[in-house]
Amino acid sequence: MLLLGIETSCDDTATALVRDGRDVLASVSTNQDAFHARYGGIVPEIASRQHVALLSAAVEDALGRAGAGFDAVDGIAVTRGPGLIGSLVVGVAAAKALAFALNKPLFAVNHLHGHIFAAFLDRDDPPPYPFLALLVSGGHSQLVAVESATAMRVLGRTHDDAAGEAYDKTARLLGIPYPGGPQLDRLAQRGNPRAYAFPRHRPGADSLDLSFSGLKTSVRYFLESEAGRDAPPEDVAASFQAAVVDVLMARLQAAFERGGYEAVVLSGGVAANSALQNALRRWAECNGVTAFVPAPKYCTDNAAMIAAAAFYQRDAARADPLTLSADPNLAFS
Ligand code: KG4
Ligand code: ZN
Repeated sequence: MLLLGIETSCDDTATALVRDGRDVLASVSTNQDAFHARYGGIVPEIASRQHVALLSAAVEDALGRAGAGFDAVDGIAVTRGPGLIGSLVVGVAAAKALAFALNKPLFAVNHLHGHIFAAFLDRDDPPPYPFLALLVSGGHSQLVAVESATAMRVLGRTHDDAAGEAYDKTARLLGIPYPGGPQLDRLAQRGNPRAYAFPRHRPGADSLDLSFSGLKTSVRYFLESEAGRDAPPEDVAASFQAAVVDVLMARLQAAFERGGYEAVVLSGGVAANSALQNALRRWAECNGVTAFVPAPKYCTDNAAMIAAAAFYQRDAARADPLTLSADPNLAFS
């Protein structure tokens, strides 16, 4: 089953062709960072206009790279939400038009489910159910129990900043342009993670929730202090990163202890983080668990993960092409 994936929930105009939820024949993503960087964050109106300008070419590009025509496509998978409404409607409208014109089924996908199925791409041994997913992106951070492709339960989440948001805001404090996560990661690799003791959020005994806003504020107060003004940025970056990784790994451990998981999946943009990946691999080895982390290009937003989710969720993801609408606040389940 060959699916054309379309993902326009935020600022990446992405398309992909994926066979049987696993073999990526083409994955195209046009990065809009240059258009948003000077504003220090994503400007929704610019993002939706760029999607309009780029999407048709991105669809043709994916088909061209895969050496396939529309006739080879068995269905269209599109991100329905959550995300920026102006961005989502561009992808949903294009997907509906293609499904209608080509007379192919339309599969509506939750963006966050897509991030989980990124772990199935380009591999012969997909994660076995039930698995635990730690989803850490720019907009969301949550722990999910995945019983099957369509039975997923959120165990804990952040009620303030997402992990990626904390990275981007802290990077900004260090003078790194948006989106600062990847650059902060590189800077931290040269620093001392024990140089400064930034706070680690601990929820109540029964909670698996996360929080990063206190950490970000603490870094800000430190940088404004006497000691902070002369602090080497690489040490601040490494100490911040150590706190994020500690919080995420502590919550993963707590969730894991609650119940019989076969594997752990790390996904979302922050899953590309080198320190987090190292910590997860060490933890998985100690606990005798298999850890699945998508390739870096599938950690951040992409359309291959949307096509994968549609393939595995098939019937549940199938929607009426003519009535489907984008939903910026689409619930996780
Ligand atoms: O999943 P994603 O592409 O978009 C959302 O759905 O939010 O995640 C983007 C986020 C950004 O906040 C970015 O700074 C962060 O992922 N990110 C990283 C790294 N690469 C991307 N954060 C830390 N270390 C990285 N290497
Ligand atoms: Zn995302």
